[in-house]
Amino acid sequence: MRVKVRLLHREKFFYACGGEKTTDKTLVPIEWLAEGKVRFLDQTLLPHQETWVETADYQVVAEAIRRLQVRGAPLIGVAAAYGLALAALATNETDLTRFQSHLRATADELAATRPTAVNLAWALERMLRTAQPATNTADARSILVEEARRIHEEDIEANKRIGAHGAALLREQSTVLTHCNAGALATGGYGTALGVIRSAAADSRLRHVIATETRPLLQGARLTAWELDRDGISFDLIVDSAAGSVLRRGLVDAVIVGADRIAANGDVANKIGTYQLAVLARENKVPFYVAAPTSTIDLSMRSGDDIPIEERSPGEVTSLRGIDLAPVGGNALNPAFDVTPNTLVDAIITENGVARAPYEESLRSVCESLHHRGSRPQPRERKASVRG
Ligand code: MRU
Repeated sequence: MRVKVRLLHREKFFYACGGEKTTDKTLVPIEWLAEGKVRFLDQTLLPHQETWVETADYQVVAEAIRRLQVRGAPLIGVAAAYGLALAALATNETDLTRFQSHLRATADELAATRPTAVNLAWALERMLRTAQPATNTADARSILVEEARRIHEEDIEANKRIGAHGAALLREQSTVLTHCNAGALATGGYGTALGVIRSAAADSRLRHVIATETRPLLQGARLTAWELDRDGISFDLIVDSAAGSVLRRGLVDAVIVGADRIAANGDVANKIGTYQLAVLARENKVPFYVAAPTSTIDLSMRSGDDIPIEERSPGEVTSLRGIDLAPVGGNALNPAFDVTPNTLVDAIITENGVARAPYEESLRSVCESLHHRGSRPQPRERKASVRG
């Protein structure tokens, strides 16, 4: 396998897409290298080891998505797009029809790596659609590389806009509770829920963050805490089961989470445990916000009941990093995501504005915004309640 692993110094994390150093401190967890390779940060090793994997092999990217070396809905979309570009560069096929069917088969393979986050299928469809008009395979290859880089750049931009829209919803000196990792590590860079937190921290709206550890794979403890620590943002980590208590004690001003897929009616699939947080937030009169780019909205799903929920290995529940926590061979259910009904969601913060109920209208409106280059051009029906 053509994989190279290296340990980098901290300051080397600050790269823009394409490998150029940037002066702002946006952490970019994946990048396209000029020599036609991809480099990504292996998140399974964080926070103890900062290891980058470099590859020209799309199957390494597919396996990285499956194993959660790269994870988070927007990031797996970006990674899959780069994976498809790698596959296009790797084939010697010169016949356009055969080249295109190879691409379609590779896209299907990449799309099958994880079922819940729609960003994966969205990015792959966009790649195939954009390469469709190419008249020869050389053109198709350069279109695909360019489009993958564009998807990545647009995601970072979208997150910054989400950050600004979301921060405006917070009172001065707010304490925000967040779940899982919806940060730079889960996206092309900057983050969605953590993007809002970053923007709020920059204009004194943020006092403190409470981060849930997020069993079973501890994305909150390993990744969110790592990001907040790097940014110097004040935070406390809690075990997932402490969320009800901190909300009831009045320690939280807003709950902000990311999303893996948002149905047309505003039901939200996100990391397991999100639903119970939304119930607890409502019970304690704390606003519950979802921050996500429009590439996470799937208007073809009428409700959350239609969203496929990934079931992962029981071993992730019964053991932790190779240590058995339960009787060996013990049973476990391990749904990786849950669905929060729209009635518990106070607002969905997108790059094109803040959508509120009724979501059928407001989500359609944010998806049709001029800024969205995605795959769902549908006629506008009625004016929706969107603030941008
Ligand atoms: O299983 P993961 O770590 O990929 O799950 C990630 C989440 O559930 C995130 O909250 C979601 O993808 C939004 S990331 C901006």
